[in-house]
Amino acid sequence: MRIASRLEEVGFSDIVQIRNKVLELRGAGQSVHAFHGGEPFFETPQPIKDAATRALSDNLTRYAPSSGIPPLREAIVRKLERKNGMQVGVDDVLVTVGGAHALYAAFQTVLNPGDDMLLFSPYWTPIRDMVTLTQARPVIVPTATARRNGLTASLEHYSTPATRAIYYNTPQNPSGAVFTRAEAEEVAAFAKRRDLIVIADEAYEDLVYEGEHVSIGSLPGMPERTISAYTLSKTYAMTGWRVGYAVAQEPFTTALRKVVLYSTNGVSTPTQWAALQALATPESVLGARRDEYRVRRDNLVAGLNALGLECPLPAGAFYAFPMVGKIHKDSRRAAALLLEKAHVATIPGVVFGAQGEGHVRFSYSVSPEIIEAGLDALRKFLG
Ligand SMILES: Cc1ncc(COP(=O)(O)O)c(C=O)c1O
Repeated sequence: MRIASRLEEVGFSDIVQIRNKVLELRGAGQSVHAFHGGEPFFETPQPIKDAATRALSDNLTRYAPSSGIPPLREAIVRKLERKNGMQVGVDDVLVTVGGAHALYAAFQTVLNPGDDMLLFSPYWTPIRDMVTLTQARPVIVPTATARRNGLTASLEHYSTPATRAIYYNTPQNPSGAVFTRAEAEEVAAFAKRRDLIVIADEAYEDLVYEGEHVSIGSLPGMPERTISAYTLSKTYAMTGWRVGYAVAQEPFTTALRKVVLYSTNGVSTPTQWAALQALATPESVLGARRDEYRVRRDNLVAGLNALGLECPLPAGAFYAFPMVGKIHKDSRRAAALLLEKAHVATIPGVVFGAQGEGHVRFSYSVSPEIIEAGLDALRKFLG
């Protein structure tokens, strides 16, 4: 028996192995300070859950159009105009099974075997595998160096005649970096000059603490060459619901629609009604959540720096990405030591690309008590 050869180079998430180790420790009665997750710290708000329950009671349980129910797509169009400065039509929006599926569909839509895709590193781990699955080549652009030396020069440096697309994630997982408007304009200018497609990942658009979130697809000349991926997972604590959306123009929308149709045939209908309710959440509620995240960020980052785990203040998302050379220069070893000796669960930086080596990722989307207890455990371990 054999598997399709295009899957041979595709990895399987290391993060799952860490999750399993944490479960094993907990199963053995140990308490673990869990900073390894990637989920909001709060539960899905009640009005969203009520909307799903209502949909079930009202028998809104049948097949929906595979690209999404019209009221949800209309609400997304209004949100994109209000929040992202993007003027799009309902046909430019497809509801997907989370942001991950929007990204999967985007890569399937634009990449041919042998194409190159520029990937800022460190990056969200699955991106590399999703690109590899298309038999295109992820070409690493080290983010920190690129920001220091100028994005244009760096993108130029790593481009080849086979370069077809750029994956552009802001705010970034795992570093929390937020590209500025000037940086977005630089990447956009480069994409236009080289006739490249930009795949924009805006999963953390509502979690920016310093600066502003700029949707690259809103910049002049970009709507026709950008596929933007969004999710309700992070903003509304809906990770397990699996709902997000992709935004693009033709010829991409027809292709995206085919990928969605033949991979999932759309998102479950009650979930889409819940998503419609989520989009009605007042901005003030999102702002209050952001403030809660900011307090957590400030406390964790101050604590890490005080321990000599050097950590710049992340401008967005909900991760801190300190240097852990003090524990071990190999981030897998450092994360293993933190887990075994301090019962502090983190993700080794190297799983986010070679540029993540020497770091581990902490999520600060946890309770203030977990942050305090985790820092105490680290003090005991390092002190
Ligand atoms: C950078 C980034 N993009 C996209 C996603 C996709 O999330 P989901 O598939 O839950 O929408 C995540 C989730 O962790 C992420 O970190």
